[in-house]
Amino acid sequence: MNNGTSLLKCSDVYVRFGGVMALSDVSMDVQEGTIAALIGPNGAGKTTLLNVITGMVAQTEGSIFFRLDDLSEAQPHIRSQKGMVRTFQNLEVFSHMTVLENVMTGAHNLYKYSVLDSIFKTPRYFSQEKKCREAAMEKLRFVGLEDDWNKNAVDLPYGKQRLLELARAICGDPVLLLLDEPAAGLNPKETSSLGRVIAAVRDELKITIVLVEHDMELVMSISDDITVLNFGQVIARGTPGEIQKNPEVIKAYLGSDD
Ligand SMILES: Nc1ncnc2c1ncn2[C@@H]1O[C@H](COP(=O)(O)OP(=O)(O)OP(=O)(O)O)[C@@H](O)[C@H]1O
Ligand SMILES: [Mg+2]
Repeated sequence: MNNGTSLLKCSDVYVRFGGVMALSDVSMDVQEGTIAALIGPNGAGKTTLLNVITGMVAQTEGSIFFRLDDLSEAQPHIRSQKGMVRTFQNLEVFSHMTVLENVMTGAHNLYKYSVLDSIFKTPRYFSQEKKCREAAMEKLRFVGLEDDWNKNAVDLPYGKQRLLELARAICGDPVLLLLDEPAAGLNPKETSSLGRVIAAVRDELKITIVLVEHDMELVMSISDDITVLNFGQVIARGTPGEIQKNPEVIKAYLGSDD
């Protein structure tokens, strides 16, 4: 549900890596309750923009506003405390941990106990641990992995590991979820079920999403707004219908081999 409130505003962002201008005058406005897709050919600057939004890369120029806060200079942990959670282009699942334990790591910031609590197994430790476990189980149910909760995470097929990554990300109760190519490596059936889960994250959990993705069918089916980058510049923005018809986008991106 788009209530017309801006949650994230990237304003005139430039990023220079040595001689490469990775982003040039990029602005993007993400409305609360929407899925805002960021698309473009390889090397267009999509991951760099996610890195700037989350504070992992410092912009050369420009500003990042989150609600009314100017977070342009804020450290990544401050942005995560404000409710930004991201996933990475390369799948990251912790080995030697069960599926449930993997998801529980996403909720660490919500359930607090001290080292002493955990050493002495205090009542506080048990109650926080129980809440964390329940929250993680609920997220596993949300993505449809509840039957796999006790398996070793690395034994899951790749498609399920992608869902696990999503469950872990939403376990931190994000305000803004940034997904970097969540469907990479998935087959069409897995991609469409992932798409349904991502749309449910917006519709049922009311989490705003920035989606970087190459799979056009997925992007067109669940996005509310699309921003198109090419060579670090915004070449178009609009609804899926508008973007599909935009000649410059077709030339730069949809007509390419991606
Ligand atoms: N840390 C870095 N140092 C130097 N150059 C970088 C760095 N990170 C990215 N770049 C360059 O910035 C440009 C944008 O890269 P970026 O990874 O943001 O593209 P992308 O749109 O995410 O591409 P892909 O679809 O392949 O993931 C590329 O030319 C890339 O080589
Ligand atoms: Mg990338």
